[in-house]
Amino acid sequence: MYQTLLTTLENNILTITINRPDKLNALNRDVMHDLDAVLDEVESNNGIKAVILTGAGQKGFVAGADITEFLGLSKEEGQALAKKGQDIFFRIENNRKPIVAAVNGFALGGGCELAMACHFRIASENAKFGQPEVNLGLIPGYGGTQRLVHLIGRGRALELLLSGNMIDAQTALQYGLVNHVVPQEELLNKTRSILEVIVSKAPLALSKCITAANAAFTLQGYQTEVEAFGECFATEDMKEGTAAFLEKRKPAFKGK
Ligand code: COA
Repeated sequence: MYQTLLTTLENNILTITINRPDKLNALNRDVMHDLDAVLDEVESNNGIKAVILTGAGQKGFVAGADITEFLGLSKEEGQALAKKGQDIFFRIENNRKPIVAAVNGFALGGGCELAMACHFRIASENAKFGQPEVNLGLIPGYGGTQRLVHLIGRGRALELLLSGNMIDAQTALQYGLVNHVVPQEELLNKTRSILEVIVSKAPLALSKCITAANAAFTLQGYQTEVEAFGECFATEDMKEGTAAFLEKRKPAFKGK
């Protein structure tokens, strides 16, 4: 039914698995299109009361937006890409049904942003989190600069954003980025057992909890991010950073 997603519905819990394991489940156009479509299904199917979002394979949740699709984008196209990504992630964040990320490996760039758009996160012991966009001459564009600050505080967020460093699952737990860390083989069962409690509660009350909790934040920051993300596409360093990644060499940044 979906080109890049696997879905299974069991006990009213839909498990969505992003299925590009050879590319560490990087978010290309097809994945973003399928995520948008599966959210239609989540919203319209009364048999779905909650959702688990995870990645295929044992290594990656999602290793970011697909860098191959960044080549040659203009400032305006970069802004449009960020806006589209933010819109899909808002559909997750504002969904009236609980959506939980089961982070089974690398959650980098757009992958960390996707996990943060979910209502909360459970991680396997091998999970790694980071916003490595500065290595490419870029910044996060799918809400990462905003949600990371909200979730772990400005100081920790800026250290991650500015350094591009990854943190392991235990550090993510200590930062409050994830709620639980479990062995990989227990990840889906642990996530399911939490959701089984949740789906036994009143659906409208669940939906209103989500709406009210989300109202704690304003939207201005997201527009700021869209503009700044697009501006990166007008820099030489972004072209150099993405080319260097794809050519498997170190980038030579010029500050231009
Ligand atoms: N976009 C496109 N392709 C990606 C990708 C991304 N974000 N992340 C990984 N891949 C691809 C790799 O190019 C590689 O493809 P290939 O086998 O055709 O060469 C494949 O996925 C496996 O990744 P690889 O780099 O060989 O695995 P690794 O274990 O050596 O390293 C990472 C894993 C996650 C550290 C590394 O893949 C990485 O740094 N990815 C980019 C992360 C990033 O910058 N994300 C933010 C994007 S905005």
